[in-house]
Amino acid sequence: MQTILTGIRSNSVLTLGNYLGALLPMVRLANKHSESYNINIFVPDLHSIISDVDGDLRENIIRTIKYYLAVGLKVNENVHIYRQSYVPAHSELCWILNCVATMGETSRMIQYKEKSKGQESCNVGIFDYPILMAADILLYDATYVPIGEDQFQHIELTRNLAMRFNNRFGEIFTVPAKTSEQIKFMGVSDGIRIRDLLNPEKKMSKSTKAENSKIMLDDEPAKAAKKIMSATTDSLGKIKFDMFNQPGVSNLLQIEALVNDAPLQDVISVWAGETRYGELKKKVAESVSGMLTDFQAKLAGISDEQVYELLENGEKYSNEVAGAKLLEVQKAFHLR
Ligand code: TYM
Repeated sequence: MQTILTGIRSNSVLTLGNYLGALLPMVRLANKHSESYNINIFVPDLHSIISDVDGDLRENIIRTIKYYLAVGLKVNENVHIYRQSYVPAHSELCWILNCVATMGETSRMIQYKEKSKGQESCNVGIFDYPILMAADILLYDATYVPIGEDQFQHIELTRNLAMRFNNRFGEIFTVPAKTSEQIKFMGVSDGIRIRDLLNPEKKMSKSTKAENSKIMLDDEPAKAAKKIMSATTDSLGKIKFDMFNQPGVSNLLQIEALVNDAPLQDVISVWAGETRYGELKKKVAESVSGMLTDFQAKLAGISDEQVYELLENGEKYSNEVAGAKLLEVQKAFHLR
């Protein structure tokens, strides 16, 4: 069976960007394929500690797993849920891959450049982040890794490391699918990047200070609707999907399509020729507040016990699978 794998850091309550770019696509894929694929959903808690955590990390992790269940994840014996730090093979493979990766390729990662801003005081974890991510993926021979567009460069790095390793030692790792194939598999027309509501040139991010720039998953639905109504658009006066010239309007069309599970092209056609941005905002605000009402009600009904039971089973499974793969790698290096 092939494997679909993904993770979301739990540094705080998540945003609508995480929801539409990562949670929802993963749950849709998992529910569609869990009879014929392994579905691995894990919380990269070691990735969390590269930066500050809002609140208690352990509580945040439990909440993140509840998010998947509240979005509608159906769990069967092929669905495995675990925490990265409970599977020590991740850190160990990370070290070994550190000795395969080059400074050059790792320094080129956009996320590293943005987060470090060239400062020497930036922690080494920020630099090493994509190598740990590669270990997360390669330990389980994952083929598909549903993630938002900002993470595609890390998938390409993972593919390069896997190919380099296999060339040297034989076919030990499954090389994950190319990003173009990942997009096709996710059933979206392009990589997903939900934009900042006030500054749509940027992605929506939990770390942005301005409240109205982002929708948090615990926002009151009415408050979220207001944020959509105050989103930045433009002065061109036509509703068109054009991320380059009209990123604000295009972002709203994208959100509307994803929330309603409708093909983006259909939403674009419905609004083609329309000029009133207020009408579009009203419709998107309704869609988002409806989605949040439903999501928050479901979230409140999920207990911590349910999550701990899933983790117990998932961590038993992941330690077995990851431990076996790590042993193959250790043997390749004559460490065993
Ligand atoms: P994190 O927590 O930074 O992001 C989690 C997921 O949310 C997506 N995302 C967005 N998608 C669309 N629009 C946005 N505005 C937006 N903001 C965030 C991210 O693309 C991501 O899919 N490095 C991963 C965590 C990770 C991982 C892995 C993922 C660690 N190891 C192995 C897959 C496989 C990350 O970006 O987390």
